[in-house]
Amino acid sequence: MMADAQLGVAKIGVTKIGMTRIGMGIDIGGSGIKGAPVDLETGQLTRDRIKIATPSPSTPEAVAEVVRLVADGFDELPPSAPVGVTIPGVVQHGVVRTAANIDKQWIGFDAQSLFTTAIGRPCFLVNDADAAGVAEARFGAAEGQRGLVVVTTLGTGIGTALIYNGSLIPNAELGHIEVDGFDAETKAAASAREREGLTYPQWAKRLQRYFTALEDLLWPDLFVVGGGVSRKSEKFLPLLKLRTPIVPAATRNGAGIAGAAVLAAEPTTAPW
Ligand code: BGC
Repeated sequence: MMADAQLGVAKIGVTKIGMTRIGMGIDIGGSGIKGAPVDLETGQLTRDRIKIATPSPSTPEAVAEVVRLVADGFDELPPSAPVGVTIPGVVQHGVVRTAANIDKQWIGFDAQSLFTTAIGRPCFLVNDADAAGVAEARFGAAEGQRGLVVVTTLGTGIGTALIYNGSLIPNAELGHIEVDGFDAETKAAASAREREGLTYPQWAKRLQRYFTALEDLLWPDLFVVGGGVSRKSEKFLPLLKLRTPIVPAATRNGAGIAGAAVLAAEPTTAPW
C-alpha cells in the first residue's frame, strides 16, 4: 500500500512522507559538509543535521566521498526525494566555474554529475549563497519582500544572492567587487575579522565601505546578512549607516540546506 502510494507521487516528481513534501539539502562549506532532510513547505529541517569535517585538501573526489556519507545518513528518504547540493563557487549547468576558497581542481568540474554518481540519486547543484538567499526569500527575513533583496553571507568569503520579486538571479559574485583597491571579501568577510583580530567596531568600518559600495551600485530595497556571525548581528549591524534597511538572516545555519532542497524540487530552465 505504502509502496503504491510512493510510486504514485514519484510519477509526478513529488516526494511525500505522510502529508509532508520532503527533500534533502547538503551544504558544502569551508569547515564542514552538512546535510538534512527538509520540509519543502516550511524550510524546516525534519531531522538533526549530519555534519562531517570538510576534507583537506577539498578535492572533488574527497568531497564527493563525504557528501556520500552525509546522504547515506538519510537513506530512509524515498528515491524520488529531490536532493540539492551547494558549493562555494559559480555554478553553470552543473559545472563549477570559480573556486575562490576551495581547491582549484573544482574549476570546470561537472560536480552535479559527480555528486549524482556518488549519492546514487539525481542531484541539483547550486552556489551556496544563492541557496541561502532562496531560503531567506521563501522562509526568512526577505519573505514577501518585493523589489530587489541582496542577501549577503559573511563567512570565509562573502557570498551574495540577488532576489528580485522573490526570484533568484543566480551567480551574483558581489563578494569580489573592488573596494578601496582590494577584493572586498579579503577585507570584509567574517574570516578577515578573525584573521586580523579586529574588534566589531573596526570590522564594521569595513562593512560600511562594502555595503555603501553595494547600495550605490544596486539600489536594493533590503539587505539581509547571513553567515554564522549574523548570530552576533547586534554587535555590528547597528553601527552601519546605510539608506537601505539591513537585517540579520532568519534561517541561520540551515539556510543553505533548505534553499538547496527547495531549488532541487523545482523544475527549472534557468542556466545554473
Ligand atoms: C565565492 C562565492 C561564494 C562565497 C561564499 C566566494 O568566495 O566566490 O561563489 O558564494 O565565497 O562561500
